[in-house]
Amino acid sequence: MAKKIFLPPKEFAKKAHIKSYSEYKKLYNESVKSPEKFWARYASELHWFKKWNRVFSYTKKPFCKWFEGGKTNITYNCLDRHVLTARKNKAAIIWQGEPEEDVMIYTYERLHRDVCRFANVLKKHGVKKGDRVCIYMPMVPGLAIAMLACARIGAIHSIVFGGFSAKALQKRLIDSEAKVLITADASIRKGGFVPLKDAADEALKGCKTVKSVIVYQRGKNPVKMKRGRDSWWHEEMAAPDITDICKPAIMDAESPLFILYTSGTTGTPKGELHTTGGYMTYVYLTTKWVFDLKEEDTYWCTADIGWITGHSYIVYGPLLNGATSIMFEGVPTYPGPDRFWQIVDKYNINIFYTAPTVVRSLEREGPKWVKMHDLSSLRLLGSVGEPINPKAWLWYHKMIGEDKCPIVDTWWQTEAGGIVITPLPGATPLKPGSATLPFPGIVPDVFLENGKKAKPNQEGYLVIKKPWPGIARTVWKNPKRYIDTYFSKYKNIYLTGDGARCDKDGYYWITGRLDDVMKVSGHRIGTAEVESGFVSHKLVSEAAVVPFPHPIKEQAICAFITLKRGAKESEELKQELRSHIAKEIGPIAKPDRLYFTDALPKTRSGKIMRRILKAIAEGKSDVGDTSTLADPEVVGRIIKIVKAKA
Ligand code: PRX
Repeated sequence: MAKKIFLPPKEFAKKAHIKSYSEYKKLYNESVKSPEKFWARYASELHWFKKWNRVFSYTKKPFCKWFEGGKTNITYNCLDRHVLTARKNKAAIIWQGEPEEDVMIYTYERLHRDVCRFANVLKKHGVKKGDRVCIYMPMVPGLAIAMLACARIGAIHSIVFGGFSAKALQKRLIDSEAKVLITADASIRKGGFVPLKDAADEALKGCKTVKSVIVYQRGKNPVKMKRGRDSWWHEEMAAPDITDICKPAIMDAESPLFILYTSGTTGTPKGELHTTGGYMTYVYLTTKWVFDLKEEDTYWCTADIGWITGHSYIVYGPLLNGATSIMFEGVPTYPGPDRFWQIVDKYNINIFYTAPTVVRSLEREGPKWVKMHDLSSLRLLGSVGEPINPKAWLWYHKMIGEDKCPIVDTWWQTEAGGIVITPLPGATPLKPGSATLPFPGIVPDVFLENGKKAKPNQEGYLVIKKPWPGIARTVWKNPKRYIDTYFSKYKNIYLTGDGARCDKDGYYWITGRLDDVMKVSGHRIGTAEVESGFVSHKLVSEAAVVPFPHPIKEQAICAFITLKRGAKESEELKQELRSHIAKEIGPIAKPDRLYFTDALPKTRSGKIMRRILKAIAEGKSDVGDTSTLADPEVVGRIIKIVKAKA
């Protein structure tokens, strides 16, 4: 473990929003002692049609409310507020397409206009406050416009990552009972087209609630348009009855803003519901302080808007702060492994936020790709999605940050709404590999199995003891699942699902998921989701899926499959099963390793012991206690199979 501590550079600290550790401590202490006063102060920096009656209510634990009685609209804060000032001609979103020449610059004024127009399109399709609108799009400007247009009129957006399959989209459409689906003819990936509309059509076959499909034209890909249901985005936007004026809906602070599905321990993804006022305040303040965002900054978060990072830190957070946010359509390695550095150079990016898996994969490409570009505009680097190992941290710091940029290793989750454990770059001494300290208002702890507090450096369950404004309020249509998943292991204490240890300085070191959730290249995938994908194949009898460590992806997927009687094991079948998973979930869930076995290790009551399979996949010589297995000999047979293929 790296021992060196990196202090905030003096010049950086001098100009930072939060300038010293003592300033952070003071704010933190206040946020815990007088949370209402603390949050009211920062919520007041935003616009409210009507101020709240109560900052925080917690009468029906674990369900919390923030800014009850307050009325606002997040798009008024993201757009109108700036359009009324000198920021109106400032770039809000700079969109860089995968082809170098595809660039669009949305000033605040233009973005405001397009959002209003599209909001009017949605209204024309009968979308009302509280209706769900599903967005399944590539990283095109229409994606940001569509989500903001929903928020403008109080519709709940449910964005489904464009890399998910038709099946995965269908599950989410059905659960959210979406009225409208917004998609695109295609997405562009590594120079080719991915036919998104075909996947959308496939998904819609089993979904009765969707009445209209609006198709954004990206690829000029030939698509079938279903009469009476499908229409083109550009035609809708140009219709003579669509005006630039759309008043923002007056939203209660606790009105739903969006649903975002995420993987958990069962096969069905959970729709995390985020609401308006608390989420808005939380992402506004975290963006400002964690990224030390300033008027003149050009800020780039490389995530996809289909994930929470993109929701909070490409769209809402930067726009709430009146910043310039880059939105990039492509991938880090196309046309070459210098694409990200070329973009940093091209736009003189000041703040760059990415995932450790990207850092590791670009490190592997060698320094020449970095050195081809001038990265001197960078002043702050960020990391999110998985633990960043000290080696990758140090490379990122030296090679990309040229030893002068602090790194904010931000720990959080879909459920959190915004960043929860993180350095503040002008204030926090950094220890590579540690997400450091809680953001003001956050009260984390590490608990042992029995609910007792872990000792310094002792690993346990990372929990958060008090609700914060950004926390998801419930699981869509399933409040019981919300309680069971997050608040029942330790009553009314939020269970993150991650393991952590806290050192004697109060720094948190995240050790990874403790539940059946994997992090593959920063993507969150449930083992149960992949398993149910496998068993839906006609030749598969049973499947068990476990993660194993991977040098670039952090974790990769290993699947153990038993086939139905009569089915023949073959390399072709393996390939077919991998493609089947891509169809069921998406290419991100394809296993790196797949083994056929005649049986799986099960307890006498029939429960698959994934712990043993995980140890085997990790190549451990000791797989732990096997005495509770119905047939302990299975283990030896599986080890043999794995060794033979190694
Ligand atoms: O395991 C943690 C890991 O990502 C999980 C949340 O995934 P998701 O909901 O997809 O949100 C990702 C982006 C916020 C967490 O439970 N994780 C996220 N950030 C970090 C991390 N693990 C270690 N360090 C981080 N900085």
